[in-house]
Amino acid sequence: MSSKSYSIASIPADGIGPEVVEAGITALNALADTLKTFKLEFTNYDWSSETYKKTGKYIPDGGLDSLKQHDAILFGAVGAPDVPDHISLWGLRLAICQPFQQYANVRPTKVFRGTQSPLRNCKTGDLDWVIIRENSEGEYAGQGGRSHTGKPWEVATETAIFSRVGVERIMRFAFEVAQKRPRKLLTVVTKSNAQRNGMVLWDEVAKAVAKDFPDVTVDKMLVDAMTTRMVLKPETIDTIVATNLHADILSDLAAALAGSIGIAPTSNLDPTRQNPSMFEPIHGSAFDITGKGIANPVATFWTAAEMLEWLGEADASKKLLTAVENVCEAGVLTADLGGKANTKEVTNAVVAEIKKLYG
Ligand code: IPM
Ligand code: MG
Repeated sequence: MSSKSYSIASIPADGIGPEVVEAGITALNALADTLKTFKLEFTNYDWSSETYKKTGKYIPDGGLDSLKQHDAILFGAVGAPDVPDHISLWGLRLAICQPFQQYANVRPTKVFRGTQSPLRNCKTGDLDWVIIRENSEGEYAGQGGRSHTGKPWEVATETAIFSRVGVERIMRFAFEVAQKRPRKLLTVVTKSNAQRNGMVLWDEVAKAVAKDFPDVTVDKMLVDAMTTRMVLKPETIDTIVATNLHADILSDLAAALAGSIGIAPTSNLDPTRQNPSMFEPIHGSAFDITGKGIANPVATFWTAAEMLEWLGEADASKKLLTAVENVCEAGVLTADLGGKANTKEVTNAVVAEIKKLYG
């Protein structure tokens, strides 16, 4: 049987990034070796806050051109205690997302079998959401400036940008995601009561795009009210589309409500497929537990599954997630999920489960 081969760039970067990316690659290799329906070839890029401190650059000259040669990017985390966060973020992660036009950020959240929501009555199946985050403009557009720096009369602006093109493409993407899910239900998150320009355009474009998706039920929700609905009526929500900053905040809440930020994946997609898309666990560098070998690799496993699906390996993606959920259900959990296992033990259990189920 001929199998497709994919070239994956791995950028483990900072904090627990290297630990979880290593775990992710181990699980992916085990899956590829067992299923034999696809092949993966990894190229490691050592871009990180360490290389930034040594060379003054996160991404070396020509780095993006090399990255572009790959089919996908598996990213760990960026951020270091001795580098200002806005430098590390704009130096590495946004420096890839923005030129590669990865305008759709996808954040699925659900209560895994074997994990528990902190919400008293929320069972597996009650909370099963996908947050679609606008990933190229909005509050993260990078527009603004500072004058009279350091003076008592200093001013700074941070301008949110909403372009018709930018809003329309993320709305279309979100409607398509909602349409493919069984409930066909999309909530458009907004703040057009207070923000009367960009957010009003956002609402208008959502309404116009909705006409092309008559089978999708849409509702509109102000972002503040959305937080209460997520907590009080999680079962009424399915797919959510929100601006860059709103979705950033809502997705942390979503991850916490699902049980732990240690399981949540994210995909930075270029839906035009002109550039590779980038897949990363949501949790970030987590310096408090770096080097201890106790980071939860589940977010990276789920991230790896999302990557496989995007590459066209939907069956392998489902199989990986099933193995991971089985391991969670069997109680092999890291401390953030109330267990005692370390990163290696969870990874070994997932590899063993893959071999048992599909070998
Ligand atoms: C996320 C993170 C980032 C963001 C941080 C690391 C800047 O919180 O991916 O949600 O705000 O986009
Ligand atoms: Mg965030």
